Amino acid sequence: KNIVILISGSGSNMAAIVQAAQQQDWHQAFGASISAVISNRPGAAGLEVAQSLGVATQVLDHRVFETRVAFDAALMQGIDRYQPALVVLAGFMRILTPGFVSHYAGRLINIHPSLLPAFTGLNTHQRAIDAGCAEAGCTVHQVTAELDHGPILAQAAVPVLPDDTADTLAARVLAQEHRLYPQAVRGWLQDQP
Ligand code: GRF
Repeated sequence: KNIVILISGSGSNMAAIVQAAQQQDWHQAFGASISAVISNRPGAAGLEVAQSLGVATQVLDHRVFETRVAFDAALMQGIDRYQPALVVLAGFMRILTPGFVSHYAGRLINIHPSLLPAFTGLNTHQRAIDAGCAEAGCTVHQVTAELDHGPILAQAAVPVLPDDTADTLAARVLAQEHRLYPQAVRGWLQDQP
């Protein structure tokens, strides 16, 4: 079972998943391996991280495509070379077209840094602080056409502390993301026939 991970930035969630796959031997356990990491940003730091972990990388710069549909078509081609059982969005900062989402229906997941359904979209940590939330967290969910709205697979909560800034809260949530996302992917693999 091939898994393809899409990133745009530092790729720390991607690294957590690759390391879990290697350390827990997902190949032996589930016949699964991380086949490739694809970034839409040529400078994404996660590309080097993936290479250092021995995973093939591919860059598909969205800026060279005229339209979102054209970019998504090329991205689908890049992904489908691996015939993936699962496509994992890990800090992939592009909105995907309905055609892309339906092509991967049931095998496309994302992590979002809030306790969905609260705070879809961007700046989730500042918004949680501004709203006076006692708790924040992260959510792994299936991707559907509506942004940050698919069925929830797993969540982890952390406290919001009185002197939190968006950065300190983000760091506390990110530590949970690194635990939750590999666990959710593993759970998904376990549920496969
Ligand atoms: C994570 O907080 C993820 O939830 C968000 O973007 C961040 C990506 O971090 N959407 P990384 O690239 O996995 O380090």
